Amino acid sequence: MKPTPKTFAVKSFGCQMNVYDGERMAELMAAQGLSPVEAGEADLVVLNTCHIREKATEKVYSDIGRLRKDARVTGREAPMIAVAGCVAQAEGAEIVARAKVDVVVGPQSYHRLPVLVADAAAGHPALDTELPALAKFGALPARRRRANPSAFLTVQEGCDKFCTYCVVPYTRGAEISRPWTAIVDEARALVDAGAKEITLLGQNVNAWAGEDETGRPQGLGGLIRALDRLPGLARIRYTTSHPNDMTQELIEAHRDVESLMPFLHLPVQAGSDRVLRAMNRHHTRDGYLRLIDRVRAARPDIALSGDFIVGFPGETEAEFAETLGLIDRVGYAQAFSFKYSPRPGTPAADMAGQVSPEVMDERLQRLQAGLNRDQHAFNAATVGRTCRVLVERAGKLPGQMLGKSPWLQSVHLLTDAGAGDLLDVTLVSAGPNSMAGLDLGEGRRAA
Ligand code: 5AD
Ligand code: SF4
Repeated sequence: MKPTPKTFAVKSFGCQMNVYDGERMAELMAAQGLSPVEAGEADLVVLNTCHIREKATEKVYSDIGRLRKDARVTGREAPMIAVAGCVAQAEGAEIVARAKVDVVVGPQSYHRLPVLVADAAAGHPALDTELPALAKFGALPARRRRANPSAFLTVQEGCDKFCTYCVVPYTRGAEISRPWTAIVDEARALVDAGAKEITLLGQNVNAWAGEDETGRPQGLGGLIRALDRLPGLARIRYTTSHPNDMTQELIEAHRDVESLMPFLHLPVQAGSDRVLRAMNRHHTRDGYLRLIDRVRAARPDIALSGDFIVGFPGETEAEFAETLGLIDRVGYAQAFSFKYSPRPGTPAADMAGQVSPEVMDERLQRLQAGLNRDQHAFNAATVGRTCRVLVERAGKLPGQMLGKSPWLQSVHLLTDAGAGDLLDVTLVSAGPNSMAGLDLGEGRRAA
């Protein structure tokens, strides 16, 4: 038995979908009358976890240890601990056995968190890792609390692609799309709560499919066109996409829809056809490059981003060099790159030719040097341009604010404008990770 918690904290790790889920869990617990506080003071701590690589998974266990130790040191009662997210889904009861946590709840069943917390307080084991498609959305509060100027909205979940290295198809389940009206309603609620920009989220967001109010089949491009008509919504983004779901209709939305920002995160993972086949990516190097050409033809200033894995089992030096060649050809504005991490239960974990950690380290360094060079080149090429910046929050210096350019660059600027304002800004200099901008004193300032 534990006392029923009165305060809570949610800590999210990993991808943006977890950030969204974390916000929804916080809203849910607040609706139950619990007060949000810092993790170190909370009666209930929800760890919203990531399983994508081994390091991320191990972090859960060290965090649990730290929370308990901090409570001991300060003489507080140990908090109730709920493990949510993808580690909860993948490891289920194992977490209870290994770390004696109170609640384990998967990413598709977190709407049941209040019931599970009550069960745990009554001394019952509280575990739910069912994967009921879409059930949670209907059970979450419809009104959104205060939204950030840039808000997330999950429109699609799960993955049917089964890349051989990836746990997502197992932790998030099959691909499902939320219905059109649920998405439009939630977008409206976010705008009413202060959002100026919405990023549509999904593990394969561009696989989103549904029907509009009239029953006409629609894809992500159609959904974006509908959201573009929402009064008060200035900017739309979406992430993450799979090359094979990049339809002509979506490419045309980049050409036609002004509020759709010129940025595309389109992971390729590797540059060699043999590695792509072993990864079960269902696309070739050349197919990807031709797709990039079509996107650029539709929206010439688009900033491209990607994900890369180095040291996939069997990757030779020559095959790795093909990844370096590919990044030279594309010129990414930013990218994420990782050492291959074998994940239990995935086909690649049992493949021959696992690459040594030293070789992976060395390849990652070379890849990141190239990606950093390209990011810097992209940033430098935008110096002198005037663009709209969405102000998101205060910076570190007095009078300094931080916002985002259309190309998702972080922009620092001195201004009296506040969060949520859209300013006309000239980009005046480029750093490795951000830009400095000059507020031209025009643009739209929120009242
Ligand atoms: N090892 C390393 N990186 C991985 N990713 C997914 N699974 C693994 C793994 N087992 C990377 C991919 C994916 C991103 C979210 O994480 O690049 O696009
Ligand atoms: Fe994982 Fe591949 Fe699905 Fe992306 S497309 S979530 S990398 S299986």
